[in-house]
Amino acid sequence: MSQRIRKAVFPVAGLGTRFLPATKTVPKEMLPVVDKPLIQYAVDEAIEAGCDTLVFVTNRYKHSVADYFDKAYELEQKLEKAGKSELLAVIRDVLPRHVRAVFVTQAEALGLGHAVLCAQPVVGDEPFAVLLPDDLIWNKGPGALRQMADLAEKESASVIAVQDVPQEQTGSYGIVATRDFSGRHGEITAIVEKPRPEAAPSNLAVVGRYVLSGRIFELLKRTKPGAGGEIQLTDGIAALMAEERVLAYRFQGRRFDCGSRIGLVEATIEFALDHEDLAEPAREYMRAALAR
Ligand code: UTP
Repeated sequence: MSQRIRKAVFPVAGLGTRFLPATKTVPKEMLPVVDKPLIQYAVDEAIEAGCDTLVFVTNRYKHSVADYFDKAYELEQKLEKAGKSELLAVIRDVLPRHVRAVFVTQAEALGLGHAVLCAQPVVGDEPFAVLLPDDLIWNKGPGALRQMADLAEKESASVIAVQDVPQEQTGSYGIVATRDFSGRHGEITAIVEKPRPEAAPSNLAVVGRYVLSGRIFELLKRTKPGAGGEIQLTDGIAALMAEERVLAYRFQGRRFDCGSRIGLVEATIEFALDHEDLAEPAREYMRAALAR
């Protein structure tokens, strides 16, 4: 698959129970870090990696994700009349002109593997990316997906993002075993969903960025429900490994687990401290708050 990825899938049909009650009406992906919703950070990363077709796998409660990427005529007119050209650019730049957004529905939350499979009619059989927007990855240089797309193209292989986690946290992640790890990548020889620390083959945890061969769709169709009665992407990847090379890639950048409350708080602090206008007042406020 020495082909450059053009399509990115965003599975956003989960229930987001960890952010209840907010997620009763606000999808987790629309929670903001400073002034942008989580989904925007992931979309920007996909576009920077070269993707021009974005496939959002949503459910019937998530109209706000589609609304967000739609044109806001009334708002644009008002900003234009008021001469607020900077703000106008901000809302127009949500999606650049050359990028199209496609929405598909996952009728029932049957798992991440099932959500990815819902994107098959749009993706076809070409290599593609999957981004989980609640993993916010921050890098001053090229984004994590761009790094992965470069490697996938060079190595003609699927690539999965991994990061080292403390041994006691393996039960929260998919964990991989690898061989010939050099530099930042190695070939995956085994992948296990949420192993207990004593059963984990390593402490390399899969995080929410994937570049996958289109072959995964056929394999996901055959995947039986696994852990939690859900169709697991991990099981589909395990089947893919039996046929094709799948690489683990330790990306350059910092990941915030914004699917958890503390992760979202950490990202908010970090992004505020890096923000042009907010850095100084945020720092001042934090100093005062910590001194209380
Ligand atoms: P999570 O495991 O984070 O589940 O899903 P969740 O429902 O979003 O959140 P919690 O745990 O209840 O708080 C990982 C990713 O897979 C998507 C989610 O939207 C999230 O991006 N997903 C999960 C689906 O799109 N469909 C599913 O059936 C399950």
